[in-house]
Amino acid sequence: MYLKRVSYLKNQVLDSSNYPFNIPWVENFESLDFRSNVTFFVGENGTGKSTLLEAIADKCEFNVAGGSRNNLFEVAKAESVLGDYIRLSWSPKVNRGFFLRAETFYHFASYIDALEDPNKYAAYGGKSLHHQSHGESYLSLFMNSFGGKAIYLLDEPEAALSPLRQLSLMKIIKDLENESQFIIATHSPILLGYPNATIYNFDHAKIEMIRYEETMHYILTKRFIEAPELVLKELFRDDD
Ligand SMILES: Nc1ncnc2c1ncn2[C@@H]1O[C@H](COP(=O)(O)OP(=O)(O)OP(=O)(O)O)[C@@H](O)[C@H]1O
Ligand SMILES: [Mg+2]
Repeated sequence: MYLKRVSYLKNQVLDSSNYPFNIPWVENFESLDFRSNVTFFVGENGTGKSTLLEAIADKCEFNVAGGSRNNLFEVAKAESVLGDYIRLSWSPKVNRGFFLRAETFYHFASYIDALEDPNKYAAYGGKSLHHQSHGESYLSLFMNSFGGKAIYLLDEPEAALSPLRQLSLMKIIKDLENESQFIIATHSPILLGYPNATIYNFDHAKIEMIRYEETMHYILTKRFIEAPELVLKELFRDDD
């Protein structure tokens, strides 16, 4: 593990009535400890998982639009307010890594295409990321450029991946986790089942550790797969 803790510099916040300081857990935030090389952020939409991941990426000096330290391409909204109010504790510090954001991956692919470097595709499976499907391009990135002493911040990597490819991603993480650290915001009930990972739940007024089987993602998916007709009957009840 490299990143050990994120601490909130709360006393430097002057006005906590606006985003991101008004997110419920942020109001009570003191610090978050990383306890394993694979950590998941889970929680309902809009609970602030990306907000924290972006802030960490900002502090790692990764481009908050997505990418690594070297990828200085620009897209709108490439800023993290919370990043100015957190401190990262490292042991040891690493500079390598990548911040994957689904929203900006397209721009990242275009950025790589525009580089003059003849070896520009070496880390991405040998061809333009635009000439690979969404899921293929993600897996190319993971397989060809991830590894070593590095930290990877992934925001919903499952967005492009079939269930089978989500398993492939788990295998890639397994092969790398002795040397690399992963922090992953996800809604995938598959990825969340990664063995011995720490799962932090953002649903409440404090970020709390949660077991895989206690996540809403696991519970709802299991309930649906076991008896879709019951779940749908309940959901559509008033329509009859
Ligand atoms: N730039 C912004 N300005 C104002 N509010 C914002 C901004 N970005 C996000 N928010 C709000 O902050 C809250 C947390 O957003 P965030 O994107 O961190 O959620 P999330 O947990 O990643 O959600 P999801 O699971 O849908 O990706 C949401 O209510 C969102 O509308
Ligand atoms: Mg998000």
